[in-house]
Amino acid sequence: MKSEEIARTWYDYFGARGHERVPSASLVSPDPSLLFTVAGMVPFIPYFLGAETPPYSRAVSVQKCIRTADIEEVGKTARHGTFFQMCGNFSFGDYFKEKAIPMAWELLTGSRDTDGSSPRGFGLDPDRLWVTVYQDDDEAYSIWRDDVGVPENRIQRFGPEDNYWNTGQPGPGGPCSEVYYDRGPAYGIEGGPAADETRYVEIWNLVFMQDRLSAVHSKSEFEVAGPLQSKSIDTGLGLERLAMVLQGVENMYETDQVRPVLDRAAELAGITYTSTEDPEDPNHSNDVRLRMIADHVRSALMLISDGVRPSNEGGGFILRRLIRRVILAMRLLGAEDSTFGSLISVSRDAMKGVYPEVEQRFDTILRVAEKEEQAFLRTLSAGTARLDSAVGSAKAQGGRLSGEDAFALHDTYGFPIDLTLEMAEEAGVDVDQDTFRELMAEQRQRARADAKGKKSGHANTEVYRELLRDVPTHFTGYTEHTTESRIRGLVVDGAEASSAGAGQEIEIVLDATPFYAEAGGQAPDTGRITGDGFILEVSDVQSPIKGLSVHRARVLEGEVPAGAEALGTIDVRRRLDAQKAHSATHLIHAALHDVLGPDAVQAGSFNKEGFLRFDFTHDEALSPGARQELEEITNLAVRDNFAVETKTMALDEAEAIGAMMLFGEKYGDQVRVVEMNGPWSRELCGGTHVSSTAEIGTVALMSEASVGSGNRRVEALVGLDAFKHFAAERTLVSQLTEMLKVPADQVPDRIASTLSKLREAERELERLRGEQLRAAAGQLADQAVDADGVSVVAHHAGSATGDDLRQLVMDLRQRFGSRAAVAAAAGESKGRPVVVIGTTEAAREEGLSAGDLVKVACGVLGGGGGGKPDLAQGGGQDASAIPAALDAVVAAVRARSA
Ligand code: ALA
Repeated sequence: MKSEEIARTWYDYFGARGHERVPSASLVSPDPSLLFTVAGMVPFIPYFLGAETPPYSRAVSVQKCIRTADIEEVGKTARHGTFFQMCGNFSFGDYFKEKAIPMAWELLTGSRDTDGSSPRGFGLDPDRLWVTVYQDDDEAYSIWRDDVGVPENRIQRFGPEDNYWNTGQPGPGGPCSEVYYDRGPAYGIEGGPAADETRYVEIWNLVFMQDRLSAVHSKSEFEVAGPLQSKSIDTGLGLERLAMVLQGVENMYETDQVRPVLDRAAELAGITYTSTEDPEDPNHSNDVRLRMIADHVRSALMLISDGVRPSNEGGGFILRRLIRRVILAMRLLGAEDSTFGSLISVSRDAMKGVYPEVEQRFDTILRVAEKEEQAFLRTLSAGTARLDSAVGSAKAQGGRLSGEDAFALHDTYGFPIDLTLEMAEEAGVDVDQDTFRELMAEQRQRARADAKGKKSGHANTEVYRELLRDVPTHFTGYTEHTTESRIRGLVVDGAEASSAGAGQEIEIVLDATPFYAEAGGQAPDTGRITGDGFILEVSDVQSPIKGLSVHRARVLEGEVPAGAEALGTIDVRRRLDAQKAHSATHLIHAALHDVLGPDAVQAGSFNKEGFLRFDFTHDEALSPGARQELEEITNLAVRDNFAVETKTMALDEAEAIGAMMLFGEKYGDQVRVVEMNGPWSRELCGGTHVSSTAEIGTVALMSEASVGSGNRRVEALVGLDAFKHFAAERTLVSQLTEMLKVPADQVPDRIASTLSKLREAERELERLRGEQLRAAAGQLADQAVDADGVSVVAHHAGSATGDDLRQLVMDLRQRFGSRAAVAAAAGESKGRPVVVIGTTEAAREEGLSAGDLVKVACGVLGGGGGGKPDLAQGGGQDASAIPAALDAVVAAVRARSA
């Protein structure tokens, strides 16, 4: 049974039992507490928690997932994959254990051949299935034993470590029950999952969601805040694991969606895959690498397809790591050249049946992957050079590469320790692995401390859930700027309060509000909330949990009681300007597609009064022509005064008409679509907008720059701010025309010609100064003073460069010929003193060195200098000390014999 067929059978079985078929969400987690979607249940977290009302009570999905906690295990075991697909069936307050367990059994063991009325099963041999339950879950135990008929000796009980499930973050959780498949005695010892998890592989986890967790410390240590609103079901069957069983292969990397990549990798490296899992087998390390490559290439394909780009943080860093591990492994297998493009193309072919988007987006995927590969190959050769030199010096010093060097290679060049070990071994050098490991542990410690510091900044959302009470704040701000309402609650210092007094900083929740809470990149409203005897100033509005608007405010006057009537009034000017910027953002997004094509996908945005920032995926800087075009298309759309239309429709309808959605964003089943010029700009958006585009006024594109690999950012001024910007530039231009006495269009030419004249004049000036100095040299030589038999010229040249002074000194020296003479010339260049001293040969025979004399002068000038005995130069800080410095030189010449 092919993977595609497993998914189909899954959907059919639960679809026929009243489950809504929900398509896979993005790999970028829709839940903000998680980086990636790690389980089928992630998109449904708000439903389990009761924060949102699910539009259906049963759902079925096959969800793309990424887990990287066990990345080191990938390829070594049969069952660890970074990317995998989780088949799930879900009940939100509908059925519980009594139905979930028998259905799981029926589907696993049902015949594969039945067709027509009853959907097919996977046809597994019931005698090969073992189950586990949570230690005290007698209910699940007896359903398995009595209703399903699993013999008692194949039901095992485990503690929270194994049989309690949560996402690792505060949220829903519950005891679980797992189904294992016995692969047979060839794979390990008898005794069920308690004895051996290689022989007995977990294929399906049934979670009986019932608890609300306020903290998760480890798998077995968590804090239960209370029960969920209703008992629910979350299950996850590993599609790859079932495929491995049904396809009769040794591990998940040999299943139909992964194996082709493994084969291509072996072919590119010129080796044979032997499918061994025995660490003693000489082929083992190559096989592990091939399996790891096959897994990671697929993960990279799916992540890039879902909009992730390599970077140094978050999900982008994980993608980068996956790609780098592949490249290193290919290199260790002997492939020197770039191979990623070839591997990822094979992965695309294996995945496109289920995920057609990987083919549609493949140009972009390939570009992103190959660019990352090129960059890493460059890093690698730099690292190799560094390693070579470290190995060289290690050899010279007793043949041991230090842990510090190995760590630096890892930290700076991304050289994993096994590559360093391998290359060092080839060169006959040992590596201090203990120190390396210590340094790594220290680094991890730092990272953990950082992460902890960040986390504690998060507010506890419990108090907001209390305030939500299943009734979302009614947002009136699409049509009203002032709304009468009631104060639902006050939060002071993180806890609910019954009242607040003047001067306090509080959070306040209203039943209905015209204030827009920051979302979708649009800045929040500010304004005032007033009532009987109180005035509040609102500085920020956020939505810490879906559906609830929380105003941050300061009590300006009076006492505010929870429950009182209140009038909310927003700062209208500010809002109108913010929505101009938000509508302009949509225009820029659509215009970007005209200029760059559909791959320039939104990657983030922010807009507030007068300003917008828009990030998008694109690999290179926009050309000046593209920038100009972007600005022009945007402003044409403003001129054309398109009506802005908003419609509410079903999510799949919006998808069908091609409305732009964001990766990783979770939308409800009813969505708001904002259109400008029909399909040209059509986005899912909850923000506020102008009613027609001419209201925007003007959009001035100010900058375009890179924000990390594969992402660009444009910033623009909007409306009056754009106008002010142009007006300021016009003033500037008129100042220039005034100054240069030419019309505006001739300003650049005039500046260019003025600059070139200036340069010419400077050259001329320099030439004249040189001439002057040379003319002066004759006079100066005649005025030399005698210092006990040595002629000394000590000249203050005023403003002069070091070059001028050197010319002068050399000229003087020549004039003195065979006489014993010292020429010292000092001047001021760019506000600082410079001194140059030369000696004739006869003077040097008297023991006079230009270098020593310059030191004397510089001592007085407050600086330093030096040079050879015949010519030396120096400088200092204090130009006013030049005469004293020259006097000191003369004195030093006199003192030579003393
Ligand atoms: N959410 C459960 C899991 O991931 C089903 O194992």
